[in-house]
Amino acid sequence: MRKAKVYVPDTVAVEAIDMLRQDFEVVYTPKENAVTPLSELLERLQDVDGLLVYPRVPIDKNLLDQAPNLRVVSNIAVGYDNFDLSEMAKQKVVGTHTPDVLTETTADLAFGLLLAAARRIPEADAFVKSGQWHANVPNLLAGTDVYGRIIGIVGMGRIGTAVARRALGFGMRVLYYNRRRRSDIENTMHVHYVHLDHLLQTSDFVVVLTPLTEETVHLIGRSQLEQMKPDAYLINVARGKVVDEQALIFALQNGWIRGAGLDVYENEPLPSNHPFLHMNQVVTLPHIGSSTVETRKAMALLAAENLRCALLDEKPPHMVNPEVWDGK
Ligand code: DGY
Repeated sequence: MRKAKVYVPDTVAVEAIDMLRQDFEVVYTPKENAVTPLSELLERLQDVDGLLVYPRVPIDKNLLDQAPNLRVVSNIAVGYDNFDLSEMAKQKVVGTHTPDVLTETTADLAFGLLLAAARRIPEADAFVKSGQWHANVPNLLAGTDVYGRIIGIVGMGRIGTAVARRALGFGMRVLYYNRRRRSDIENTMHVHYVHLDHLLQTSDFVVVLTPLTEETVHLIGRSQLEQMKPDAYLINVARGKVVDEQALIFALQNGWIRGAGLDVYENEPLPSNHPFLHMNQVVTLPHIGSSTVETRKAMALLAAENLRCALLDEKPPHMVNPEVWDGK
């Protein structure tokens, strides 16, 4: 019997490839410090049954039309806004993702970004390394206190909860806004549910952690930024499109807020002429929320397990469209 064929276009932990090779024919085309161009990826899909990808790859009609055998797409990410779920349903393609294994790592990065923006850590590092440190002048690179301040978490899911835990350790007051109130979390943690407007008007640090869905596109736009305090910071480690980037640039340029810490953008990678690259008050990271050696390995293994199960007709642990599986 023909072995199912799996395509892995980008670098993943070798253990995940080894696992898949036990049951499948694996086509693995990693590029050193680069990704496989989409055009090359699309050309290889003709007889592929399973795809293991990072969410940079749009799983849309164009891709699905070129992959007539495709049965499952396994995202190496918790977010799956790259999936066109209605097209996947039409073409009966199961989608899976990798929750839980990246929660604490992403929360570390979110809190690190908050600290970096507030205490101007990247600016200070660049200042020392560029030989500008000639005297300990008063108020050198003075930042903003974090301990004891108010954090407002927009999206109280797994990662939001993990960020809240870190914030409580810093003696912060934790406000949150979520589509539905999380009494389960309130029963165990000292966090306060508030309306989004109240959160924006009160918080010193607004941390965006909501998934990107039709309802959350530009959830933070001009009228939300206008409500924030002039010395507040916006931190985004979710998806770029949750924040209206043009509105954020305007808000920063006009002093509506003091700064931002960003790991994600409306278009990635950022173009070389992007205004953020010239703003000292914005800390810019290249979408590395879950990028530690340990966590990327755990994500790759979980993604491989999702894929392995689906191709062997066992229910995968983390499906995002179980109705497709059930309707098979
Ligand atoms: C995720 O898991 O969604 C991360 O953002 C990686 O893209």
